[in-house]
Amino acid sequence: MPDLSAHGVLAGLDEIAGTGRDLRAGGYSRHLWQSAELELRDWFTERAERLGLAVDTDRNGNTWAWWGAPGPDAVVLGSHLDSVPGGGAYDGPLGVVSALEAVARLQAAGFVPGRPCAVLVFAEEEGSRFGVACLGSRLLSGAIDADVARKLTDRSGISLAEAAVTAGLDPAHLGPDQDALGRIGIFLELHVEQGRGLIDLGAPLAVASSILAHGRWRMSFTGQGNHAGATLMAGRRDPMVAAAHAILAVQEAALASTGARATVGRIEAVPGGTNVIPSAVTAWLDARAESDVEARAVVADITGRLQAAHTGCTATVVEESWTGTVTFDPELAARLALTLGGIPALSTGAGHDAGVLAARVPTAMLFVRNPTGISHSPEEFATLADCLAGVEALDTLLRELL
Ligand code: GLV
Ligand code: MN
Ligand code: MN
Ligand code: MN
Repeated sequence: MPDLSAHGVLAGLDEIAGTGRDLRAGGYSRHLWQSAELELRDWFTERAERLGLAVDTDRNGNTWAWWGAPGPDAVVLGSHLDSVPGGGAYDGPLGVVSALEAVARLQAAGFVPGRPCAVLVFAEEEGSRFGVACLGSRLLSGAIDADVARKLTDRSGISLAEAAVTAGLDPAHLGPDQDALGRIGIFLELHVEQGRGLIDLGAPLAVASSILAHGRWRMSFTGQGNHAGATLMAGRRDPMVAAAHAILAVQEAALASTGARATVGRIEAVPGGTNVIPSAVTAWLDARAESDVEARAVVADITGRLQAAHTGCTATVVEESWTGTVTFDPELAARLALTLGGIPALSTGAGHDAGVLAARVPTAMLFVRNPTGISHSPEEFATLADCLAGVEALDTLLRELL
């Protein structure tokens, strides 16, 4: 029999390899409802329909492909197709391609599911356009207030409500979707591993045990915009200097903690001219830790350190999103690990839609080894052999769960 999965996984990733390339950052920039992401959704629809799946987008922009009639107690496999700016080829797409491939393999083997099954593509997992990660799963499950979500804006000032209209959605209908959520009996997300966990374990696959508590905070600094040449150094109120102190404080606070991770990966200066002392600077903080208390403590420490910096500027810190520590359903995780021959369990520092759904429905994740240990970067990778092990694991699990 031809190796369908080898062909399919490669073909799936190959088919989208040219979509959303970021020539400046390298890798991919595929953002919600912008051209690359829309192209990927069309690709997903076409590929799912080729398998005879019925494709439908829910009121929050998540796309479902149903194998058989949509129904309650379904086994739903899913991930996302959007990326961080300059992201890798596997974070998200590997889960989608592998899910489609597992269904294709079962179909080719003549397997008839005994319960409903769907492949789900979540909207805006990375939060790269509207700032809140896992937006599609948060809206679906009610983990974000729909009014708050509608007012989120992208870097051009376009609101989520406005963007939803251009994507053919009714912004009034964004929000908790009990019908869609109620169909999920088990949610299973396969994802490339984003650190060195599987390298260190020497294993191709693991079942997720937990996700670190994590959140995002907007740190805003306001000073006095002025002329770079005509303004003496003494007495300046330069918010870029305040932000620089803050960034060092972020590193100092995380290093002083017992294992928190804190990052500033994005900064914006207004108005943003080489010869202009900015009037305002915004820096976004991503902080994560083993426990909710520890993550909150490191952010409190950072906030305290900002206020101690004497730069004549005002500083505010506003929470943009928060997910407490996620512990995946231990019984389901144990069942999956056993079915797969006793594969290891692994905790992760990366956020996932599965982490949001875990609060509402039985949820599990499978990680596929990333031999570079690097993610959110073009260097993210997974070998074909490990990708195939992931598809085979999904195939095995679906035979058991369906
Ligand atoms: C998503 O990958 C995140 O953890 O930011
Ligand atoms: Mn990611
Ligand atoms: Mn991801
Ligand atoms: Mn300092």
